[in-house]
Amino acid sequence: MFIISVACFLLLVSDATDVLHVNTTVGEFTVLPCILMLPATTGLKQLRFYWQDDRAYVLYSFNEGKEMPEHVNELYRDRITAFPQDMTGGNISVKLQYPTLEDNHRVFHAFAAVFASRGIKRYIFEHREICQMTLHVAVPYENISLTVNEETMTAVCTIQRGFPKPLVEWRLQSHSDNTQHLLDPQDVNSTAVQDPQDHLYSLTSTIVIPGGPYQSVACLVHNPTLNVTLIATHILNKGEAERSRPSLAGALMVAAAAVLIY
Ligand SMILES: *[C@@H]1O[C@H](CO)[C@@H](O)[C@H](O)[C@H]1NC(C)=O
Ligand SMILES: *[C@@H]1O[C@H](CO)[C@@H](O)[C@H](O)[C@H]1NC(C)=O
Ligand SMILES: *[C@@H]1O[C@H](CO)[C@@H](O)[C@H](O)[C@H]1NC(C)=O
Ligand SMILES: *[C@@H]1O[C@H](CO)[C@@H](O)[C@H](O)[C@H]1NC(C)=O
Ligand SMILES: *[C@@H]1O[C@H](CO)[C@@H](O)[C@H](O)[C@H]1NC(C)=O
Repeated sequence: MFIISVACFLLLVSDATDVLHVNTTVGEFTVLPCILMLPATTGLKQLRFYWQDDRAYVLYSFNEGKEMPEHVNELYRDRITAFPQDMTGGNISVKLQYPTLEDNHRVFHAFAAVFASRGIKRYIFEHREICQMTLHVAVPYENISLTVNEETMTAVCTIQRGFPKPLVEWRLQSHSDNTQHLLDPQDVNSTAVQDPQDHLYSLTSTIVIPGGPYQSVACLVHNPTLNVTLIATHILNKGEAERSRPSLAGALMVAAAAVLIY
C-alpha cells in the first residue's frame, strides 16, 4: 500500500506542468525553456515533440530525428528554432525570434512522446504535456522628462511610447533627515494614452508638491514586464517648498531647524 501511494505521488509530480512566465522585449529573441526527463540512452530517433500556442497553432514539430516544418503555422514560420545538439539531453527548448505585441499573453505548451529504442514500435511514454508558459512582451519606455514649476509647486512627468501600461510613483526627499516620502496615489493625476495603431502607451503624470522641507522631487516610472524603472529627479530651491505651501509638518520642521541653529 505504501509503495503504491509513493508510485502514484511520483507519477503526479512528473505529470505536473509548472506554469512559467517568460518576459521579453519586442524585436529581440527569447528562449521558451522546457526540459524533459529522458532515459540516458535516448536517441533523437526515439523522440517526438511539438510546441503549440493557446489557439493550437503549431510553433515547432520534431518527429523521430526530423523537423516537421510542414506542421508549423504560418505565424511561426522562420521565427522558431530548436537546439538539436541539446535534445538528446532532454532539452526541448525552442527560440522565438522577433516577438511582437501580437504574441503578448500567448500561452505556449510543449508536448512530447518517447519511443522504445528497439523491437516493435512502442512508447516509453505517450504524448503528454511537459511544459506550459505565458509570454509577456514589452517595449521599453524612453525619454522620461520631469518639469517643475516652483511658483505653482506643480510637477509634470512625461514618458513616451512603451508597453505595457507603466506604474508611476512620486517621491519627495527631505533635506532635514534624508527620508523619502511617497506621495499618496490619490494625490497623483496620471493619464496614459494608448496609440490605437501600435498599442504603445505615453503617460503624463501631474502632482502638486505638498508643503514640507523637501529638497527634491522624483518621478519613477516602472515597466512591470521588464522590471525596469526610469527615474527623473528635480532638485528644489532650498526652502522654496516650505514658503509656497506652508503646512503644519513644514512649520514644525522649520521650528526644529531653528532650534538646531541657535
Ligand atoms: C537548453 O538549451 C538552450 C539552448 O542551448 C539553453 O539556452 C538552455 O540554457 C538549456 N537549458 C538547460 C536547463 O540546460
Ligand atoms: C527620445 O528622444 C530622442 C532624442 O531627443 C529622440 O530621437 C527619440 O525619438 C525620442 N523617443 C521617443 C519615443 O519619443
Ligand atoms: C487630471 O488631469 C486631467 C488632464 O490634465 C484634468 O482634466 C483633470 O481635471 C485632472 N484631475 C484632477 C483630479 O486633478
Ligand atoms: C513578467 O511580466 C509580468 C507581466 O507584466 C509581471 O507580472 C512579472 O512580474 C514579470 N516578471 C519578472 C521576473 O519581471
Ligand atoms: C525586480 O528587480 C528587483 C531588483 O532590481 C528585484 O529585487 C525584484 O525581485 C524584481 N522583481 C521581479 C518580479 O522579478
